[in-house]
Amino acid sequence: MATTTSMGQQPRGQDSGIDLHAPIDSPQDSQHPAEPAAQEEQPADEHVYDFASDSGFDSGSLVGDETDTLASNILNHRIENGRQYHAYRDGAYWGPNDEPAKEILDFAHHMYLLTLDQKLHLAPIHNPQQILDVGTGTGIWAIDMADQYPSAVVTGTDLSPIQPEWVPPNCHFEIDDVTLDWTFPDDHFDFIHIRELFGCIPDWDFFFQEAYKHTKPGGWVEIVEHSVQPIADDGTMGPDHFYHTWGKTVIEMGDRFGKSFTIWEEAKLRMEKAGFVDIVEVEYKWPMNGWSQDKKMKNIGRWNQLRLHDGIEGFMLRLLTQVGGWSLSRAQVHLAQMRKELKSYRTHAYLPGTVVYGRKPLR
Ligand SMILES: C[S@@+](CC[C@H](N)C(=O)[O-])C[C@H]1O[C@@H](n2cnc3c(N)ncnc32)[C@H](O)[C@@H]1O
Repeated sequence: MATTTSMGQQPRGQDSGIDLHAPIDSPQDSQHPAEPAAQEEQPADEHVYDFASDSGFDSGSLVGDETDTLASNILNHRIENGRQYHAYRDGAYWGPNDEPAKEILDFAHHMYLLTLDQKLHLAPIHNPQQILDVGTGTGIWAIDMADQYPSAVVTGTDLSPIQPEWVPPNCHFEIDDVTLDWTFPDDHFDFIHIRELFGCIPDWDFFFQEAYKHTKPGGWVEIVEHSVQPIADDGTMGPDHFYHTWGKTVIEMGDRFGKSFTIWEEAKLRMEKAGFVDIVEVEYKWPMNGWSQDKKMKNIGRWNQLRLHDGIEGFMLRLLTQVGGWSLSRAQVHLAQMRKELKSYRTHAYLPGTVVYGRKPLR
């Protein structure tokens, strides 16, 4: 278990910057989310928590060795402003790990499938044996990959034990902090997948050096990220539009947190710097709602509207209140304004994103 080797290490780069004093609660897990229903009007603050159900944590991979004492730490969580956050590396990640947050991650997975025409990756991998999904979240991509490549072993790592227990036999999860030295063997993975680790990594150059080191010669690394700053190409988003305030605020909070949100536009250069070759960057757009006349874009936009409407509380509450020092009521007003803007179809705004993949040279 990765936790056995990494608990004593310190993360590289800047630390979280969050000073959390609230008590950490005892273990309470809930069921893996059901398939999301597209309810466009449900306010995020009406989420109902289901703490009564059983753990979704793959206990077999953690309990039963010298990590017993770590296990309780890992299974703990912190409640903050009504949302549940991870306890291992307390404060390191901006997002909650409760049921509503898991549902939002699974919405995004659906949107990536729509965006990439149902492909799980764009890198030209063939007959992979070892696949790593860094910061796997609910593990939904790793599980799908294990089904698609039955001869591969798919490993998903995360700070939060929120992955389901029942997964394909060739898929497993580890609790690990990716900002520490990676404990996997060198030249090991045929494919390393990174998705939405924006705001999570204090030193992307170190991160890509580690990814490079642990990729097999000839193997591929793919990173999928998007901007947090909405833009429009047709003048429908004037200079005073709230979307500008929104984007600037997220960027500023990331900078204060010491983990930036701009990796989507830096990934290609950073991968080149780490030594990857044959790098390809594919751009995509996520409309803020269903304003587009294009059928595919309209569908993605409708999902994005739902994801943002229900998800922004989880995306921003900790950053605004703990990093920015905003009062809860100021933060809620900011979030409410964003939800209002998301309902306007006059503004043809979207979030640009990139899929970047590159190969480790054979020699
Ligand atoms: C926005 S979610 C993306 C999840 C997943 N990659 C996906 O696309 O569905 C970011 C994930 O990264 C994890 N994470 C953040 N910081 C991490 C770290 N230092 N080490 C490992 N995982 C981390 C979080 O717990 C969260 O599950």
